[in-house]
Order: sequence, then structure tokens, then C-alpha cells
Amino acid sequence: MSADTCTIGLLGHGTVGSAFADLVAARADDITRITGRRPQIGGILTRSLGDADAILAGSDIVVELMGGVETARDLVLRALRSGTPVVTANKQLVSRHGPELAQAAREGGVALRYEAAVAGIVPVVRVLGESLAGAQVDRVHGIVNGTTNFILSQMAATGATYADALREAQELGYAEADPTEDVSGADAAAKMAILARLAFGHWVHLDDVVFEGIEHVTADDMAYARQFDLALKLVGTAERVGDGLSVRVHPAFLPVGHPLASVDGPFNAVTIESAAITEITLSGPGAGGPQTASAVLGDVVSAMIGAPGPPEPHAPAVIGSGVASAFYVHLEVADRPGVLAQVAERLGLQGISVKSVIQDGLGETARLVIVTHTVSEQDFAAALDLIRALDVVRAVRAIRVIDEHFS
Ligand SMILES: NC(=O)c1ccc[n+]([C@@H]2O[C@H](COP(=O)([O-])OP(=O)(O)OC[C@H]3O[C@@H](n4cnc5c(N)ncnc54)[C@H](OP(=O)(O)O)[C@@H]3O)[C@@H](O)[C@H]2O)c1
Repeated sequence: MSADTCTIGLLGHGTVGSAFADLVAARADDITRITGRRPQIGGILTRSLGDADAILAGSDIVVELMGGVETARDLVLRALRSGTPVVTANKQLVSRHGPELAQAAREGGVALRYEAAVAGIVPVVRVLGESLAGAQVDRVHGIVNGTTNFILSQMAATGATYADALREAQELGYAEADPTEDVSGADAAAKMAILARLAFGHWVHLDDVVFEGIEHVTADDMAYARQFDLALKLVGTAERVGDGLSVRVHPAFLPVGHPLASVDGPFNAVTIESAAITEITLSGPGAGGPQTASAVLGDVVSAMIGAPGPPEPHAPAVIGSGVASAFYVHLEVADRPGVLAQVAERLGLQGISVKSVIQDGLGETARLVIVTHTVSEQDFAAALDLIRALDVVRAVRAIRVIDEHFS
């Protein structure tokens, strides 16, 4: 370590870690000009290379790009407690162990930065933590998983089934061989926990986030979405509900004018709503080695110039209930007169009014597709139970609709 150089300890040398090392070498002159110190990789840790103790002891900044939780947590805590700033892209680590990591950073008097842990290169951590620090955020909507957005975009554009679109995503390298983390909504849930923390100033643990994936979305849903002028996305939402917060991830239909509706392919976007600013939407590539490495290097530059890290809350969030939503309801029913009236009556019993209906005969059965007005999720669940109990109903599924119109 010397006054003219900044030695970076690199934990992990995979897709992002190797791109980061290349980027540090390529951009070293510019970073020296900006910060007054020349960045250099001092040591690299992989499963087969490097000595963790020596790397921690000899680094001015530690960059954690290993993934996983336990080893990463141990090394990051040690670095922070000993006064070494840390940059990480690890959303699982940050969403599960936020308070412990923040405490370690306070003890060491240094910052933990994690811009690349949420929404890839889209600089939403900085915007929420700094640019909008003075605005009271009411709601954050995000498409924060590029894999699922690619799959849904392909289904919408080509009529492909979920299975075919997933296979294409795997062939193009947008989805892992085991895609569960992405398609189940778990990856997006971790990112929304972090965004909620930054937007509302309370700890939200990953376990507080309710999530649902895209595995059950059908080509049929996509075709109806077109008829209703809606786009189907996996949407993360963090918002104030009563005195608490609701943080959730689920497939949702959006009006085509919504800022997130036109975000297609492996891209991410986050819309931040606040009375003071109306709304801001940020979008860009959601993943990829060089792209993520660029966000990591931005954090390293901030650490080198001693900028404060993202603000960390002191209290956990109260998780609220009473969320309201509109719904798309897809029913397979017996093709008999009066079925629509029976279904509408069950909805009416819970005070739910119907916005649009499409009915298609299929021979023995008919397909009934209904879009409701906004209703409390609790009332909707009760109505769905009543509808399932009708002997004319063979199958029913529901997807939320974000029922707001944007110009
Ligand atoms: N890939 C993306 O586009 C992307 C986007 C945003 C965020 N991220 C995040 O960035 C991080 C890295 O992702 P990645 O795609 O670069 O992963 P990766 O390609 O699997 O690379 C992981 C690296 O960490 C090393 N490593 C893993 N566990 C280790 C352990 N216990 N001890 C020592 N070394 C270990 C691996 O060593 P070996 O080489 O020996 O296996 C490898 O070099 C993750 O937190 C991920 O969520 C990735």
C-alpha cells in the first residue's frame, strides 16, 4: 500500500470479477486523474487461488464478487471491521445481512457499497440514497430481473410458450442451467428488499418480501394481454400501506402507456414515485460481466474519493397489510348459459366490479377472461374461493393488473 496507489483485494474472479479486473487495467489512467491514486489489483481470491488473510491485510478496498452468502459474509465483515471499505454486487448477502453489515461498517468507520447488487448497471442505489434523499418516496416499481423480462418479452413478441422462451434464454446465456432463482421471483425479491430499504429508510429482510414467479404464465395470457392493451411483466413493488410497508414481486399486467411496459429483453428499469418529483424511471442492462463490472468500478471510484456510502436505516420495517390491486381472471368453465352471471355474482358479493370481459367458446368448455377494477387483495381471494366452488368452473387463475394510466 502506498499513497499513490489504491490496492484492490478482489474476492472472486468469475464472470464479473474477471471483467472487473480487465476494466481496472483499461481505466486506470482515467481513475488516477479523477482520484489522484492509481488503482491496482493487489490479490485475487478464488476457490483454488489466493490467500484470504493476506488479501484482506494488504488491501485499501475489498471488492467482493464471489456470490454465495456465508464465506462472502465472513470476509466482508472482517474487512469492514478492520476499516477497509467494501464494494459488493451480492444481493443475497446485502438483503439477508443488512443490519450486521451496517454495524460492521460503523465499527470500522468505512462504507459498504452495493450499486451492482440491484438492477445491474442502472444507478438506482445512488439515486435513491443521494439524489432523492430529500424526496418522500411513496412507491417504487421495478423490473429488476433481466432473465424473466427476456422470457416474458419473447413470449409476448413471438407467441412462444414459457418452456420455449426459457430454453431460448438459456441458449443465449440469459438464464442459468438451473433458472429457479430467477423464474421463481426470488432474485427480484432480494433486490426489492434492498430498494425498499433505500426508498423508505427501514430494514426489510428478504423474508419480508412476498414473491411469486412467472412459471405459470401461458401464451394464452399473453394473447389476452394484447386484446386488453396490457403488457405482462414481473414487477417488484415497494410501497407505503397504512403505517407499514408492502414489498412484493409478482407477474403483473401494465397498461401499455406505463413506463415499465415498454422495457423489453434482458433489461431492468425502476420507476420511483413521489409527490415531490411525480416519477422518475431509470433503465438499462440488468446483468452481464462488463456491465456489472462498470457499476462495481463506479463504487470503487466513490470509495477512493471518500464519498459517503448509501444511508443505512436504524429500525426494521413494519410490514403492512391491506394491499389493493386490479386482477385479470382466466377461467375455464362449462359452456352453458348463465355461467358469466354466476361468476359476476360471486365477484359482486365481495364488492368487486368488472371492467372488461372476453368470452370464447371451445366446444364442451368456454374460456372466460375478466379484468376487475381495483379491489382489496383479501376480498379478491374470498371471491376466488367462491368462484372455485362453482361446479361449472373447471380451472381458474389470476394475475394482478397495475390499473393506472400514464400519459
Ligand atoms: N453475472 C452477472 O451478470 C451479475 C450481475 C449482477 C450481480 N452479480 C453478482 O456478482 C457476484 C458474482 O457473480 P458471477 O456471475 O461473476 O459469479 P461466478 O462467475 O460464479 O464467479 C464467482 C467467483 O467467485 C469465486 N468463489 C465462489 N465461492 C468462493 C469461495 N467460497 N471461496 C473462494 N472463491 C469463491 C469463484 O471461484 P472459482 O473460479 O474457483 O469457482 C469465481 O471466481 C454474485 O454475487 C452475483 O449475484 C452478477
